[in-house]
Amino acid sequence: MKISYKYPALFIGIMACCLFTANGQDGVTLFKKNCAACHKLGSRLVGPDLIGIDQKRSEEWLLSFIRSSNAMIEAGDPDAVAIYKEYNETIMTDMLHLSDDDIRSILAYIKEKSPAPGVASQEKKEPVEVKPIEYSAEDIQQGLRLFSGQAGFVKGGPSCISCHHVNNKDLLSGGLIAKDLTNVYGRMADAGLAGILGAPPFPAMATAYNNHELDSTEIAQVTAFLKHADNVSHTQPVKTGTHIFLLGGGGGLFLLFLVIAIHWNSRLKASTKHDIYKRQLKSI
Ligand code: HEC
Ligand code: HEC
Repeated sequence: MKISYKYPALFIGIMACCLFTANGQDGVTLFKKNCAACHKLGSRLVGPDLIGIDQKRSEEWLLSFIRSSNAMIEAGDPDAVAIYKEYNETIMTDMLHLSDDDIRSILAYIKEKSPAPGVASQEKKEPVEVKPIEYSAEDIQQGLRLFSGQAGFVKGGPSCISCHHVNNKDLLSGGLIAKDLTNVYGRMADAGLAGILGAPPFPAMATAYNNHELDSTEIAQVTAFLKHADNVSHTQPVKTGTHIFLLGGGGGLFLLFLVIAIHWNSRLKASTKHDIYKRQLKSI
């Protein structure tokens, strides 16, 4: 047959093509799943713009920072500490579940999206001015109800207050499992919160909302409440979770001492035998 030799060539071609796209997609998919909630390519979001990051940092640094920025900050790496301070001490989630190869393919994807070194990379883009969304009083109220569990999420996710505290007079003290969210809006704004609430990059939170995603209206309402809480935070009496916790603990201890003190006088002061002995002495 005349064309038979073409098949292997075609096969190899298709295989190569598939492999290539599969590799490319890996980086995109991994980026979308693990990083996009906080990083955008081309502008700043919760974290810095990652365009041209391969020019700024060594691969070794990137592998170890992305795996665990917390460990690097703790170890006092000067670049890691500097960028952490610059971003108002917002934690980047540790990515212990990613292998070096996963991280390399994410970096390859970022590099693919970055301009060639020396070309346009130095032209500093001003951050895009994002107009803050205006929320209505009803949005804020409904956000408060969702946050506190007075209203349920459509898909049945847990209320935020079970893990997070927000210092606001309209709210009970929240959980201490996760970070205080009183001023989180100031750090993350609408886009950052939408990213995190749409696809939580934190394992504990991701598990809690797995198959119980918030819809876009709920995200907007919770964001509206967090924005309000941030705006009025300076007028709220300080009532942090730790405070209440300590007060509760301290109060309990005080009550315990009180109970002990009350019963102290009616306790047995000496052995019964001693009493009998004294009575017998008197009767002599
Ligand atoms: C929860 C939000 C969040 C997620 C998710 C996240 N990052 Fe970050 N990232 C940050 C913040 C905030 C910083 C700024 C430094 C800091 O606070 O530690 C940062 C910093 C970085 C830096 C250092 C940038 C520089 O200029 O030195 C790199 C690189 C980075 N992130 C890559 C990634 C990659 C890759 C992923 C996904 C695998 C990812 N990040 C996921 C929030 C996040
Ligand atoms: C099962 C517990 C849990 C629930 C429920 C939960 N979260 Fe979280 N959340 C976490 C954990 C854990 C983190 C990781 C950072 C930390 O330790 O605070 C986190 C981080 C965040 C962050 C990033 C904080 C920062 O400063 O980096 C935001 C914003 C947030 N959660 C908002 C919410 C909102 C809004 C809700 C309700 C829709 C919610 N969370 C429900 C556990 C939870």
